[in-house]
Amino acid sequence: MSVDISDRTKPQPTAGVASLAPYQQGKQAIAGVADPLKLSSNESMVGPSPAAVDAYRAVGDRLALYPDGAQQALRAALAEVHSLDADRIVCGNGSEELIQLVIRAFVEPGDEVVLSQYSFAMAFIHATAQGAKLVVADEPVLRPDADRILAAVTPRTKLVVVATPNNPVGQYLPKRELDRLVEGLPDDVILLLDGAYADYVDADDFDAGERLVETRANVVMTRTFSKLYGLAGLRIGWMYAPPGIIDAVQRIRTPFNANAAALAAAEAAVRDTAHADFVRRENNIELSRIAAAFAGSGIEFIPSAANFYLLRFAGAGHDAAGAAAFLEANGIIPRPVHAGGPAGCLRITVGRPHQNDRVIASLLAYMQD
Ligand SMILES: Cc1ncc(COP(=O)(O)O)c(C=O)c1O
Repeated sequence: MSVDISDRTKPQPTAGVASLAPYQQGKQAIAGVADPLKLSSNESMVGPSPAAVDAYRAVGDRLALYPDGAQQALRAALAEVHSLDADRIVCGNGSEELIQLVIRAFVEPGDEVVLSQYSFAMAFIHATAQGAKLVVADEPVLRPDADRILAAVTPRTKLVVVATPNNPVGQYLPKRELDRLVEGLPDDVILLLDGAYADYVDADDFDAGERLVETRANVVMTRTFSKLYGLAGLRIGWMYAPPGIIDAVQRIRTPFNANAAALAAAEAAVRDTAHADFVRRENNIELSRIAAAFAGSGIEFIPSAANFYLLRFAGAGHDAAGAAAFLEANGIIPRPVHAGGPAGCLRITVGRPHQNDRVIASLLAYMQD
């Protein structure tokens, strides 16, 4: 639906808001299937730590009270477990809210925002709503490209957004490339590193950005409890940022943006490092197993470091749309990659081993069909 903002007969949104198309959520259901295997939104198929569920339930006895607006206990737990400075942490209603707050605090109409191509869709939306000019830095080899990002920066650039690992591919900007990107950026341009999938990466050349945040005034990292920690339903994320950026975000953050149940569950979740290690290990073992299962099948498995993977279908009778329909007929919901993403691909969340077996068996059957 397009909006005519010159129409004076009724209230009109800002030009930035009017130019947006509504957000498309991942598919939630299959008609006629009671309990589909939903692998379309990169949720944790293991689920949260039992300690997090207990902490969540305990909040049920204290619902009359506001949450701690200073988020002290969760910030302290994050600082302790990840060796961080608690004063540089702010928690939010999902990392999505924190990305929005950084954009609202720093981006004015007419500013340029550089987005690495496979960044989170909501970053595009918030920057557009703010009236920014969006500049997309392509990812021709399917991971963020430091040279293209730097080439896109102009004197009007206010913010650069990079999801690392990116989405829908699951590939990250290697540390040496990240360092080069940071070195090349002007001091007054913010680099926002969206680390929604950083918890899964187990590679020596990955840097989520913690030490850069501590040594630079312009680097921000956002993280989430929605993925590895299995708390997507509670909406809780956090950011790690230098004092100047924390200060700006605190001025516009609503005092109780992170609710009591989310704060309590996340604190227990981050302290349960054994559960987090298990989820990461199983995910990464399963990624290798899935890659091997599709070798020689005619389906291209695109390497990923996250909790999802892309499968590319060459066409010729077996394409991404046909594969999606076949999976759905077998009770499995994948995420088709729409315009703007790599062509001919399906994105599928890594499940538990028996769930991945179902996906593999279905798709191998589709290729024989
Ligand atoms: C790349 C990326 N960034 C950020 C988010 C936001 O996560 P949340 O708001 O649940 O923390 C997502 C969610 O899917 C994502 O894929």
